[in-house]
Amino acid sequence: MNRKTAFREFPEIRTKRLILRQPTMKDAEWYFGYFSRPEIVWGGGQPGPKDMKAAREEFREYLTDLYRTRRGFRWIITLKGEGKPIGTLGFYKWAPSASFQAEMGYDLMKEHWGKGIMTEAMNAVIDFGFEKMKLNRIEVYIMPRNKRSIRLVKRLGLKREGLLRQRYFDEFGNFADDILFSMLKSDWEEVRRPRRPKTG
Ligand SMILES: CC(C)(COP(=O)(O)OP(=O)(O)OC[C@H]1O[C@@H](n2cnc3c(N)ncnc32)[C@H](O)[C@@H]1OP(=O)(O)O)[C@@H](O)C(=O)NCCC(=O)NCCS
Repeated sequence: MNRKTAFREFPEIRTKRLILRQPTMKDAEWYFGYFSRPEIVWGGGQPGPKDMKAAREEFREYLTDLYRTRRGFRWIITLKGEGKPIGTLGFYKWAPSASFQAEMGYDLMKEHWGKGIMTEAMNAVIDFGFEKMKLNRIEVYIMPRNKRSIRLVKRLGLKREGLLRQRYFDEFGNFADDILFSMLKSDWEEVRRPRRPKTG
């Protein structure tokens, strides 16, 4: 697949309640406040940006440049009819040498937890990954303490592969374990099958 021609335009995604849109540098200010919130720092295991300059740099690297270089996609989550960012999600580590697989990351403002918003967004983005990016495997790494995130990926049908000891860091820079979850294209076909409209 030629990534540049296949995704000439950033792919906006609409679901029942949400519009998943392209990030722009105008969102960097929101990102600064949001990525400094304790629950987001805790979930991702990353300290928030220390100032606005650092926030802009991070935003460029992890959000806008990801698509520009076609190493992945990160969408800004908005509620239909509102337009303000409430979270982000997407694929990264989509390497040309292993374009059949990518990792997913996601986060949501705390006031929107518990309503199924991320489940709705992830379902749509997972469909995009298998259908449009032609992935065969999606990976998610979660720290064992993040029970909410574990419930989310299990609800979506990802499978636990195992515990990776001290694979990464927590927000204080200490080595921390990760649990690896994955979904294969064949799993997705299995999970999706009952939801497809019957033909014939
Ligand atoms: C991980 C995170 C996105 C999960 O958020 P969430 O609100 O639990 O997930 P959803 O938006 O899919 O909502 C699911 C919850 O809403 C409930 N719900 C209500 N209506 C629902 C619906 N229509 N569909 C599905 N679930 C619904 C579910 O029962 C579930 O609650 P439960 O887990 O207590 O049973 C959020 O905790 C977060 O942003 N954490 C910080 C960042 C982070 O940890 N990122 C992941 C790093 S690995």
